[in-house]
Amino acid sequence: MGSVSGLTIRQYGDPVLKERTLEVQEIDGKVAALAESMIATMYEAPGSGLAANQIGVMRRMFVYDIGEGPRTVINPRIVESDGEWTYDEGCLSIPGLSWDIVRPNAVHLVGLDLNGNEISIEATELEGRVFQHELDHLDGILLVERLDAAQRKEAMKILRSRMLHLPAGDPDGLSRIFAR
Ligand code: NI
Repeated sequence: MGSVSGLTIRQYGDPVLKERTLEVQEIDGKVAALAESMIATMYEAPGSGLAANQIGVMRRMFVYDIGEGPRTVINPRIVESDGEWTYDEGCLSIPGLSWDIVRPNAVHLVGLDLNGNEISIEATELEGRVFQHELDHLDGILLVERLDAAQRKEAMKILRSRMLHLPAGDPDGLSRIFAR
């Protein structure tokens, strides 16, 4: 990919959003370039987090910014979670919609940064929510699966009508960025 500009964010109904992503095997220049493109795409949207499969790359990494600058987390895992917090949660793959969703408040996230160094972050509230939301993406789970029955019924009604206007798959040609 050439210049750093916004990539196409895959929308609800695109199969890449329902698949579990694979570990990043080697953190090299390709991964750094991908992170840079993902951050540009996240800001352009704008949003506070973006998972790799949201742009069609089936690898376990996400970028985020909760107001402290952009960060990249590779091969993330949540090793501990605690408490409960309700937040009006949205998703760049389901634009214009959001729902009050209850999830754990505090989470302990581990993973790697772009230099291959280990990351360990204990996060609460918005940061903790972003981590859980992006981890879900990497496991092929969308926030509609976190809704209660009434919210979900309403959501599906809207989303079914939106799916009639889906764009073609892999608009940025990124699906084969990693050979495997
Ligand atoms: Ni999302």
